[in-house]
This record gives sequence, structure tokens and C-alpha cells, in this order.
Amino acid sequence: MSKSDTAKPANSMWGGRFASGPDAIMTAINASISFDQRLYAQDIAGSAAHAAMLARQGIITSNDAQAIREGLLTILSEIESGAFEFSDALEDIHLNIENRLTDMIGEAGKRLHTARSRNDQVAVDFRLWVRGQCDGAIEEITALMRAFVDQAQAGADWVMPGFTHLQTAQPVTWGHHMLAYVEMLNRDRGRFEDARLRMNECPLGAAALAGTGFPIDRDYTAKELGFDRPTANSLDSVSDRDFALEFLSAASICALHLSRFAEELVIWSSAQFRFVRLSDRWTTGSSIMPQKKNPDAAELLRAKIGRIMGAQVALLTVMKGLPLTYSKDMQEDKEQVFDAADTLMLALAAMTGMVGDMTANRAVLAQAAASGFSTATDLADWLVRTLNLPFREAHHITGALVAMADSAGVDLPDLSLAQMQSVHGGITQAVFSVLGVENSIRSRQSYGGTSPIRVAEQAARWKAALG
Ligand code: ARG
Repeated sequence: MSKSDTAKPANSMWGGRFASGPDAIMTAINASISFDQRLYAQDIAGSAAHAAMLARQGIITSNDAQAIREGLLTILSEIESGAFEFSDALEDIHLNIENRLTDMIGEAGKRLHTARSRNDQVAVDFRLWVRGQCDGAIEEITALMRAFVDQAQAGADWVMPGFTHLQTAQPVTWGHHMLAYVEMLNRDRGRFEDARLRMNECPLGAAALAGTGFPIDRDYTAKELGFDRPTANSLDSVSDRDFALEFLSAASICALHLSRFAEELVIWSSAQFRFVRLSDRWTTGSSIMPQKKNPDAAELLRAKIGRIMGAQVALLTVMKGLPLTYSKDMQEDKEQVFDAADTLMLALAAMTGMVGDMTANRAVLAQAAASGFSTATDLADWLVRTLNLPFREAHHITGALVAMADSAGVDLPDLSLAQMQSVHGGITQAVFSVLGVENSIRSRQSYGGTSPIRVAEQAARWKAALG
């Protein structure tokens, strides 16, 4: 037995069967108060609802419930003003608050934990917290969508190269590219909405794991805390962390989308591309190279997903193989989710700022759109439409024309009609009309296509939807 074992008194909250307190290192590994204090508001709300329910059901007196309510409100303001002293010895936010309550109001405070366990208490606190983060994420994503829609409306007809394999593919419009992210972000929003719906059941009242013999009213506490209904199985209620995993999963996919645009910004803002100018607010200089304007915010956004995905993998790993019901392993859920949520909110806010501030370099975009044989597909389509060639044959002829232009060091519209006719005699002067970038983008009027008409429609639809 180490010295500290005997030195400390047994825990006042549950030490009835303990002769001594924990080893100092046990306290260090066991205590979660350093991080789970973030759940204070949810813990107090859960306790207030529980106490009110106990009184309504005649399990405690209304005087006790009143004292508990007032005590909890005092604790809330103590915590918010910084006056509250958190103690490692009291392990977590639940015991810290309950202990303070009992110090303040005596006997009544000790009755609060009737028909409850920390197992259902932490489950309800954490759900409330994660639910709030879903709401926050939905709001932040919406703000970012608005920033992309504004860019799309401004540049519905600005041409730029569209890429596959990061090779010039076909000309597209700036607005079209911006709206691609709006679609992704809208699905991200939907994932948070779905997750929120599924998690919005109240585990309070599951008690330790088996429910309780007290005549509690779980519908009442569920409603008080804004849940749709109580959870239906007490064992599941205290052992489920799917809600946190779903949050992390939605967060990972959203961060992945941010990371892809961040990567595009890094490429686009380089001296080689010069597609966009990032504002001074989102870039840094170099201490040695005066010409530099580094896209640090975009780079960090690109990297931040590592933390969020890491949190998801960490929590999946914590939960896998755990037998029902609660195990202390599950205390490891919080730091991961807290960090992932903070990271996501910061990343969304930074991206919204960057997108709002960035300036497309229209001239460079237009020039780039016209290079790299970007209208080769239009040429092939023209051969199909005008000469009634099968597409594969048209593709082959176009390939030969591209090779000819490439070896002459020119672009497709720079070839002469005679050169074109040497590859296929049926080609006429009219072909030149489809070789222009403007014609190319205007022609792509299929639903969801890049033509400015379609893009303006989509941008207007999003503008109306997002307000
Ligand atoms: N701090 C604990 C956690 O976050 C609260 C639940 C403790 N339950 C228990 N049976 N020890 O998981």
C-alpha cells in the first residue's frame, strides 16, 4: 500500500465501503473534472428537471425541490463567474456540483440523486451537449453556404478550367464550382440534422442500468429537457455512445469537404495558378522571403481534419468490444468530442471568412479555361452532331487534332481549316464556333450543368433557400 492510500480519507460521495482514499495516481487517471466541467450547464439542467420530477411524483418534498433548484442556480452563477472551485478529488462535474449543493443546502442536496445514477446522468448531459453542437454546426455550415452562394451569384458566368486528375478537362463556370461546395455542405448539414433527430431521446431515468423502483415520470423529464421522448431500454441508455460517434462521423465528412476546398485554395493562390487572391486577413508573410503571402489558414484547415477523424477513430476504438452496460472506458468519450467540435467550429468560421474575402482573378481564370485543349469534347460533340459520326470515331478524330495542335505548340482554335480537313474532310468553318470557351460553357445547359443559365438558377434557388 502506498503512503497516499492511507493518507487520504474515503470519498464522501460514495466512500461508505472504503477504508481509505485513492492513490494520488488513481486520482490523476480517474478524475475527469479538468475536461468534463464543460458539461456544467447540461448537468445543472438535467438535475433541475430530475428534481422537479421527483417532487411532482411525491418522491421528494416540494420544499426540497425548491431548495435544490435555487442551489443549482447559485452554482450555475458561481461556475459562470469563475468563483466555483473544482476539485479533482470529487472526480467529475456530477460529483463536484452535487457536493457543492449539499454543502449549501444540506440534507435536501443529498436527496437529489434519488432514482438516478451518474450513468444516466452523464448520458443525458453529454447528449444535451452534443445536441447543442449539432445545432451549432448546422448554423455555421449555413453561414459558409451563404458565402459560397454569394461567390456563385457574382461569378455565375465567369469561366475557369474544370479539372479531372488535376488536368484541364472542360471549361466550367466559377459559380458552378462554388455551388459544388454548397451541395456538399448541404448534405453535411443534413447529416447533423439526422444525427440530432436520432439522438434526441432522453436517457435520464435509466438509473444505473436497470431502471428504478421509484415511480418516476420519464416523459416529464424528457420533455423538460427538449427531448422527443425517453429512451426505451435502460441498458442501452447508459451504454450507448452512438450519438457521439454519429456527430464525429458527420464532423469528419464535413471537415473532409473543408479540407478539399482548402487544398484548392492552396493551389489556386499559388504564383503558378493565380486563380484567386486571398485577403491579408487569412494569410501570413515570410520572415525571410518578402514576396511571400502564405495561405496558412487554408493549410491549417486542410490539416485540421486529422484531429476530427482521429477523434472518430479513437472513440470507435474505445467503444468496440465493451460489454454492456457502462464501463469507465466511456469517460474517454468527452475529450475527443470536445476537441473535434471545437476544431470543426473553428474550421467552419475560418472557411466562411476566407470564402467571403477571396477574389477570383477572372482574367487568369479565363485564360486558363481556354488552354489545355479544354474544348476538345465540344469538337467531338460537334462531329457527332454535324457529321453524324459515332462518338467513338469523333473522339478518335479529335484526339488526332489535339495531337496536331500539341506538336505545333498551338491550341485547337489556332489550327487552320485546311489542317483540320487533313484529318477529316467533312469539317467546315462552322466548327470554330464550338472551339470558343464561352460557347462551350453556354452549350452545357443540361440540368445540373455548368452553363451560366443553369448556374444562375441554382444560385438563385440557394439564395432563396438560405435567406
Ligand atoms: N465521469 C463519468 C463518465 O464520464 C461519469 C459516470 C461515472 N459512472 C460510474 N459508474 N463510475 O463516464
